[in-house]
Amino acid sequence: MRLNLSLIISIIVAVGLIAFSFTFYQTLSERSKLNSELEKRTVQIAEEICQGNSAYLTQINHVNVDSFTDSINNKYNLVGLAVYYNNDSIIANNFSLNLMNSSLDYISQSIAADTSLGTFITSDGKSIYQYIKPVNKETISNNVIVFYNDAEYIDNIINRIWMRNFIRWFMQALFVSLITVFIIRWGIFGPINKIVDWVKAARMGNIDQLRKQPPAKFLAPLHKEIVQIAKAMHEAKASAEEEARLRTKAEAVWTPERLKVEMTNLLQNKKLVVVSNREPYMHVHEGKTIKCLVPASGMITAMEPILKACGGLWIASGTGDADKETVDKNGKVQVPPEDPKYTLKRLWLTKEEEDHFYYGFSNEGLWPLCHIAHTRPTFRREDWHFYKKVNEDFAKAVLEETADEEQPFILIQDYHFSLLPELIKKGKPNAKVAIFWHIPWPNPESFGICPWQKEILQGMLGADLIGFHTQYHCNHFLETVNKTLESRVLWDNFSVKMSGQTTFVKPFPISIAFTYKDFNKKPKIKASQLLDELGISAKFMGVGVDRIDYTKGIIEKFQAIERFLEKNPSYIGKFTFVQIGAPSRTLIKSYSDMVSAVETETNRINWRFKSKGWKAILLLKRHHSHEEIEPFYAVADFCLVNSLHDGMNLVAKEYVASRNENDGVLILSRFAGASQELQGAIVVNPYDIEKSADAIKLALEMTDQEQNLRMKQMRQIIVENNIYSWAAALLRTMVTIHN
Ligand code: F6P
Repeated sequence: MRLNLSLIISIIVAVGLIAFSFTFYQTLSERSKLNSELEKRTVQIAEEICQGNSAYLTQINHVNVDSFTDSINNKYNLVGLAVYYNNDSIIANNFSLNLMNSSLDYISQSIAADTSLGTFITSDGKSIYQYIKPVNKETISNNVIVFYNDAEYIDNIINRIWMRNFIRWFMQALFVSLITVFIIRWGIFGPINKIVDWVKAARMGNIDQLRKQPPAKFLAPLHKEIVQIAKAMHEAKASAEEEARLRTKAEAVWTPERLKVEMTNLLQNKKLVVVSNREPYMHVHEGKTIKCLVPASGMITAMEPILKACGGLWIASGTGDADKETVDKNGKVQVPPEDPKYTLKRLWLTKEEEDHFYYGFSNEGLWPLCHIAHTRPTFRREDWHFYKKVNEDFAKAVLEETADEEQPFILIQDYHFSLLPELIKKGKPNAKVAIFWHIPWPNPESFGICPWQKEILQGMLGADLIGFHTQYHCNHFLETVNKTLESRVLWDNFSVKMSGQTTFVKPFPISIAFTYKDFNKKPKIKASQLLDELGISAKFMGVGVDRIDYTKGIIEKFQAIERFLEKNPSYIGKFTFVQIGAPSRTLIKSYSDMVSAVETETNRINWRFKSKGWKAILLLKRHHSHEEIEPFYAVADFCLVNSLHDGMNLVAKEYVASRNENDGVLILSRFAGASQELQGAIVVNPYDIEKSADAIKLALEMTDQEQNLRMKQMRQIIVENNIYSWAAALLRTMVTIHN
């Protein structure tokens, strides 16, 4: 109210000042125009009289002056006329004495200067223009005639202008004030009040309320910022509550906040650099806009929350077609885009490098070499050449980025960079280097077929720490080193000594960002509703989420579903398996063949059990974001992870984490690292189709009580061994190693 009043007063004063200035200027020019018209008219009258009566004027005296003035006044409508004769005697006038007296000064001036003189005077409160004209100088000296013309009408005109403009000003000020108040009340205060309500709601812990209604467009940027602040507040509050709860329960579950504190203590201001081939955010063109995607990758699911919690630098290949447009001149961009927490530096590979380094050596060589999935590895000299070259380029980038650092912490991800630890250590011996191998490590005999096995092992052993998901993979690695290199493998503490350097080889089962805070997330949609939206009516639903990769056992999974329906025909028409499949590495023949095989198998099985409005398998073949996958996890009766060989498999953990009601069943391949932790799952051998089919039946018919028991146990394991505890364990180990 006070704001409105002061605003109205300000507007009235501002509009008034403008109107006053304009009117002032207008009246000045109007008055000067009218004055000069009056002057001109009076001069003309004077000239006409003096010229037309010049002879007569010399003879004017007290007797005839009255008839003279009367005739002039009548003819020219003057308010008065006076004749001044011989210096001091006014011989005639038809006007007031006051007026005559006020003219005397001017008359003397006119006579002294011997020139006409026009002035405006006021007499008896009236405005008059007087024009003094000397006449007939030759015959009678100091003889003047004074013409008095009415100037009152000029004042009247000027007054009318002021009045008109005052009314106009008043109306304008009133109108502008009303409109402004209207705009402010409904256009500005309205949306602001909404934001205030939203922030209050967020303060009270109702974060969902905040997302409900977007405010007026012009407040959108402010709204976005406030949502972020409110979200951060909400998260901080939630984790503070969680910390408090944990303290009272004497538990020690890791949270992003706890990891942040731990990292600050461990790193002591040292820079954290993560290196991977796959980038956590990828910018791609979509029509005329640029979209930001999170690629399908277990490594990203795991590493991203750590960087989000602790900040740092992540170096990766830029592979999105709009990546170059979104970085600064150093190839850097702040991510996540909506709420930046760390820096992503993109390095650019040439097409040739991508062919040989990524598709060739990494994914046709090392990937099938490490996964025992019966796809033969291919080793080409050219691929190896580019693998070395790209490792060198990444090493150079890491060294440049850490040039000013005394002891940076470098966390290398995966099989794409086996040579990087040694290259970095050579350039910066003080650096603490760890490499985490996200995929399995095969037995020494299998690994032994790689023509460059020595170089790879030597490159990896440049690290202070090598991490695998399981002790089993660590043992395979140490055995491989033992058989291949001249080194000392110390089995008592799982380390390797070579050329004065000690490398520890330890298991760190990777995980997801799951905390107690996530325990209460509610599924937003029902299974039947979700399937309805996809055009399928089924009572039961299973889900699978995989990159389409020959290691994932997708074909075997479909065959198990087929066998399950064969053995349990009552489920035909009632059960649908949704397979979310992200095409991956499709330039490699074995991968494009796998996409075709998955499609063919889907079509074959669906055709076999064909029924109106129902499908046995629904294949959703495209990249899905985490947000898109979440509802499927939340509503599926079971999730089937069927990897033929897998380092960990985070899909299994994500499914369990999404089951807030402690229902649902996880069917998990015994060849995925996750099977060692998630004992509550139904563990299957993906090659054993018959048993897998039985596992599906068991899952669908499991009692609620048993589901609860298993799910609770698995959720507890994941929450206690989440990605924050993984990162803390890895960094703590790095810190304790002194080479
Ligand atoms: O999870 C294993 C892994 O190799 C990751 O390291 C990788 O990001 C992911 O699979 C997906 O593979 P790509 O990066 O080749 O798409």
